Amino acid sequence: MKKDFLTLLDRTTDELKHLIDEAIRLKKERGAGILRNTPLAGKSVALIFEKSSTRTRVSFDVGVSELGGRPIYLSVSDIQLGRGESVSDTARVLSRYVHIIMIRTFAHSRLEEFAGYASAPVINGLTDEYHPCQIMADVMTFYERFGIYRGIKVAYIGDGNNIAHSWLNGAARFGFDLAIASPGGCEPDKNITALAINEAKKTGANIIITADPAEAVNGADVVTTDVWASMGQEKDAARKSEMLKSYQVNAALMKAAGKDAVFLHCLPAHKGEEVTEEVFESSFSLVFDEAENRLHVQKAIMLDII
Ligand code: CP
Ligand code: NVA
Repeated sequence: MKKDFLTLLDRTTDELKHLIDEAIRLKKERGAGILRNTPLAGKSVALIFEKSSTRTRVSFDVGVSELGGRPIYLSVSDIQLGRGESVSDTARVLSRYVHIIMIRTFAHSRLEEFAGYASAPVINGLTDEYHPCQIMADVMTFYERFGIYRGIKVAYIGDGNNIAHSWLNGAARFGFDLAIASPGGCEPDKNITALAINEAKKTGANIIITADPAEAVNGADVVTTDVWASMGQEKDAARKSEMLKSYQVNAALMKAAGKDAVFLHCLPAHKGEEVTEEVFESSFSLVFDEAENRLHVQKAIMLDII
């Protein structure tokens, strides 16, 4: 059976930890100038984008190339999908040409429909509900710093969006503790939260949802946030800014976290909104390591599913 990578719950704890180990190995090899393996030689990977991207686009393109494969960038405005060709037909046609399909789209149900029709394995490059490749890079980044998963506390401050949902899945599988602070009306989805809390029983992760950022960061090793208005929510931006304005990650909030706490952000960041320039540029900000780790972890994911 093909191995899609649609959410972190698609994999077991051991499988996810193995992917992180592989990503660390690939990172070391790349750092030493060793790109000896070309396991994707003769294989093509379609990269479909229905939304904008810098990191996902470039890290997948470079990752596929470094593994010896051929990336094919497909903006929705250039392919027939953007003119109304169905998801089911697009998925079946592309599967006749390429060996992996990464897609960034809107509703997660659209990704699931795509994966249901594709015979090639499908990777989620972000949906309105989840961003699993991002959270794999984030977990890898704090694991490189702290060397453990269990016993780490992550505090996510802000909008209960796709990033927050994948943090919930990440906590459930890796077993780190997670506190999400979001104001009323911006909480993470209740069903996604309930499922993560239930799955977390297997790993012992403690997951809490609160409206109080200070409570969330208390004792946190990792403080993270994301934009207040995600792609596709532009018309709600003013209303969300109003709701989230007291959820900024600033120096005072970082001070209330653990003394060795690090700051993560999936990027792109809106400095002065969800995070101050001071925190973003601080010595405890790992945001560019985090962005780099997308490359390594996605290579590991592609090698696992090919
Ligand atoms: N973090 C992330 O996915 O960035 P892009 O939107 O630039 O791909
Ligand atoms: N929540 C953001 C993440 C961007 C990588 C968005 O969906 O726009």
